[in-house]
Amino acid sequence: MSERTSEIAIVGAGYVGVPLAHTFAQAGRSVLLLEVQPNRVEQLNRGESYVEDVPSESLGKLVDNGLIRATSDYDELREVDAILIALPTPLSEQREPDLTIVLEATKGIASRLRKGHLVVLESTTYPGTTRERLQPVLEESGLKAGEDFHLAFSPERVDPGREDWTTKSTPKVVGGLTPECTSRAVELYSSALDTVLPLSSPEAAELTKLLENIFRSVNIALVNELAQLCDRMGLDIWEVVDAAATKPFGFMRFEPGPGLGGHCLPVDPFYLSWKARQYDFYTEFIELAGKVNANMPYFCRSLISQALNHGRELSLKGSKVLILGVSYKADVQDTRESPALKLIELLQNAGAEVAYHDPHVPELPKHGLASVPLEPADHDCVAIVTAHSSIDYDRVADEAHLVVDFRNATNTNGRVDGKVWKL
Ligand SMILES: NC(=O)c1ccc[n+]([C@@H]2O[C@H](COP(=O)([O-])OP(=O)(O)OC[C@H]3O[C@@H](n4cnc5c(N)ncnc54)[C@H](O)[C@@H]3O)[C@@H](O)[C@H]2O)c1
Repeated sequence: MSERTSEIAIVGAGYVGVPLAHTFAQAGRSVLLLEVQPNRVEQLNRGESYVEDVPSESLGKLVDNGLIRATSDYDELREVDAILIALPTPLSEQREPDLTIVLEATKGIASRLRKGHLVVLESTTYPGTTRERLQPVLEESGLKAGEDFHLAFSPERVDPGREDWTTKSTPKVVGGLTPECTSRAVELYSSALDTVLPLSSPEAAELTKLLENIFRSVNIALVNELAQLCDRMGLDIWEVVDAAATKPFGFMRFEPGPGLGGHCLPVDPFYLSWKARQYDFYTEFIELAGKVNANMPYFCRSLISQALNHGRELSLKGSKVLILGVSYKADVQDTRESPALKLIELLQNAGAEVAYHDPHVPELPKHGLASVPLEPADHDCVAIVTAHSSIDYDRVADEAHLVVDFRNATNTNGRVDGKVWKL
């Protein structure tokens, strides 16, 4: 372990914190990862990465060079220059913003705050969080934001599994409480990232992140709705999306699927609809998109039921269904909010015998399931829910009795056996 004092602390060593630390350290900045899970602290200090986008080999070198270190001791925050917060911002059971984790950690930061510190919130949240919720807690230290310490919001835009855009190359927006706060934060990020864009306020930066996620949620809902219409009209939604995507302008490709997953899209838009109500405003696009997307696992269950019925004269009850792919998107291990989990529950409740195969997810402890070997013929139906690139889908289509493909993963061109049903 290095004796050197780190320049930057990142609170929360998860999908956001670890790649961010890695990016700063690769630019020669020393980073302290502050993490509550002791096993994660130990793993990081051994140079082992548990985040797919950060290879252990690269992390290990930076740990050996003393550029990355992990701790669970908040007192170490006193020594750093900047504190970045990358903590979860979930919804409560009533689907309202739950800032408990962020605010508890902010209290821990406040009691170690000193003059000259820069604090930046990276977690996705509603406009006003930095100013209305973090600033008062931090000022309990007796220090004044914008005068004694600097405060800003800068949303993380990481897309796990993506290789063409990284934390370093993706432009970063920053909005500080004062112009000085903004320029301190811009200076920090510019030391490691290619492009940093200053905005006029934390609220503008908070809403920017939400606009990006709502844009995706609404457009996915649009194609999901059309997929359901295509089912009734006997049209192939994938053919239509492919054709529309040939237009070189004015169209952006979004694909239908079994529903939204991950920590962001099913959650973040509702941070804004909650806040909007304070202004007597109802964000109808967000609610409508949420409704359409949340219905997709139910629609997928009915497609499986129909396929078993028409294709094999079987009822859902008692049929063996293999779910192929359970993480929320291809080639990652994250199962948070994955529509596959909802679909498994719906199928189990309907009396189906459900098994799953996923090379990235060995177990689903809450469902009492472990990944089974991929033997398509052992099941009455194989449902492709997440299309990992390592799977041979031609083999699946050849060997299975029946396939329901929610991702357009199988090549059905010229297929005449009627075994493959598509969303
Ligand atoms: N995952 C993504 O793809 C992504 C992308 C963009 C933005 N975001 C946003 O970034 C934020 C963080 O998300 P994430 O996916 O990295 O979460 P995560 O759950 O992967 O990581 C959070 C980490 O914080 C730790 N932690 C919890 N409480 C703590 C505390 N009090 N002190 C120190 N550590 C603590 C957890 O143990 C965990 O390791 C969220 O607001 C999320 O919406 C996530």
